[in-house]
Amino acid sequence: MKITIGSDHGAVDLKEEVKMVLKEFGNIEVKDVGTFGTEAVDYPDIAEKVCADVVDGKSDRGIVLCGTGIGISMAANKIKGIRCALCTDVYSAKMSREHNNANVLALGGRVTGFGPAGEIVRAWIEGEFSGGRHERRVNKIMALEN
Ligand code: RB5
Repeated sequence: MKITIGSDHGAVDLKEEVKMVLKEFGNIEVKDVGTFGTEAVDYPDIAEKVCADVVDGKSDRGIVLCGTGIGISMAANKIKGIRCALCTDVYSAKMSREHNNANVLALGGRVTGFGPAGEIVRAWIEGEFSGGRHERRVNKIMALEN
């Protein structure tokens, strides 16, 4: 699986932690589009970079992070083809895959600690879309883009 990851300055440390968690899987190729320091950057620019890879098929999924996860998830969900789930708990992360087929996960570096974030990422990576009635609903979400 290929994953593109990116954060603004509000979640650089959590981004590094998430990359460590992704390494555990042994079969995930990670592309990090930054940011890499404490200098302020605009989270919509990061969302755009990560989501472009997902929409273009260069990555299977994306992970975006900002201080709260709110701004960057809002930005990601403006991009056609993206279903971004801002998750602060494991159950939501699991359901965002099973029911919503989320292709991007958002996390908040100033909200979610390293331990819970790791569990959220593991659940989200392992979660599989259930299809069936959920497929109909996801198709309706995507139809709202038009
Ligand atoms: C940046 O200070 C902050 O606004 C951003 O990281 C995020 O929390 C926005 O939703």
